[in-house]
Amino acid sequence: MKANLVIAVVGATGAVGREMLNTLYARDFSGYTIKAFASSRSAGTKVAYGDDEIRVEELTAKSFEGVDIALFSAGGSTSTEFAPYAVSSGCVVIDNSSAWRMDERCPLVIPEVNAHALKNHNGIIANPNCSTIQMLVALKPLHDVSPIERVIVSTYQAVSGTGQKGIEELETQVRQLFNGMEPDVNVYPHRIAFNCLPHIDTFLDNDYTKEEMKMVKETNKIMEDENIKVSATCVRVPVFYSHSESVNIETEKKISAKDARAILTQAPGVVVLDNPKENIYPLAIDATSENAVFVGRIREDETIANGLNMWIVSDNVRKGAALNAVQIAESLVEQDLVRVTNKLMFR
Ligand code: A2P
Repeated sequence: MKANLVIAVVGATGAVGREMLNTLYARDFSGYTIKAFASSRSAGTKVAYGDDEIRVEELTAKSFEGVDIALFSAGGSTSTEFAPYAVSSGCVVIDNSSAWRMDERCPLVIPEVNAHALKNHNGIIANPNCSTIQMLVALKPLHDVSPIERVIVSTYQAVSGTGQKGIEELETQVRQLFNGMEPDVNVYPHRIAFNCLPHIDTFLDNDYTKEEMKMVKETNKIMEDENIKVSATCVRVPVFYSHSESVNIETEKKISAKDARAILTQAPGVVVLDNPKENIYPLAIDATSENAVFVGRIREDETIANGLNMWIVSDNVRKGAALNAVQIAESLVEQDLVRVTNKLMFR
């Protein structure tokens, strides 16, 4: 690895930002200089970095001088405003928000799936949506064997996907209900405790939500295949960490369940947990704080010729956000791509 890299985490006090710091520490970046940025509200507070603490600085246009890589997870508007300043300081941005994902200048990368797309980056690399990441880590190895024509996915998404405020909302509502109180509803349009909300992000003109359409568009961009049809229903469930997904695929040629299990057992980043007779299948509580994408309940769809069903679970804050961003940083270093060629590209 290149010596003396300076890495910044923007949104370091948030649920994903804290996990980015944990992941940087746990992997090959432990020896580098790490900086932590957040809003003026948090300036001067401290965040944990291994056994040490880092002082949080207020994010400004000048924060990126001398910084090589910035991992952003501070919401779309912060990314839209500040990522261009980072690039003009010569800093490569890996952005966890949806702000840059569909911008043609920005590669959208899952290292196990399309690390090659980093080659011609222009300074901003987008981290895909958490639900898309775990789905495609599992589907790409199958797509390589027989192209996927259609995907039908229903998600069961944890509240940590909404950040710290989502975690606090579920905690508070559970406590209020157990104390016989009427729960306060602040973060979601309805109560999330002991409930399921078929509504993540805002509704669009086609009656799908933005989250659902992210899964459609991001799949096409990452797989570099506009022909894959994706139909998604995204549901928020009262789970703290790890998203689960029921995924049905239709492939060009038949892949048996046995072959799919064998393919996925060899796939990078995937762990197959599939022994229904012993009650073994992926669970959100087991996936939490793990790096892998877990796949189980693999079975043939008996209603079509070339269909498979599966259950895909992964830690949305870890592989769905922080780990994927850190893996992108690792891949940039490995491929000697930590540089900005046109500092004015996004100004
Ligand atoms: P802060 O704690 O100072 O508000 P989460 O997604 O868990 O809610 O976290 C959001 C993260 O983004 C937090 O670290 C938050 O910092 C940070 N953030 C929000 N708005 C800004 C901003 N305008 N500038 C910098 N960081 C921001």
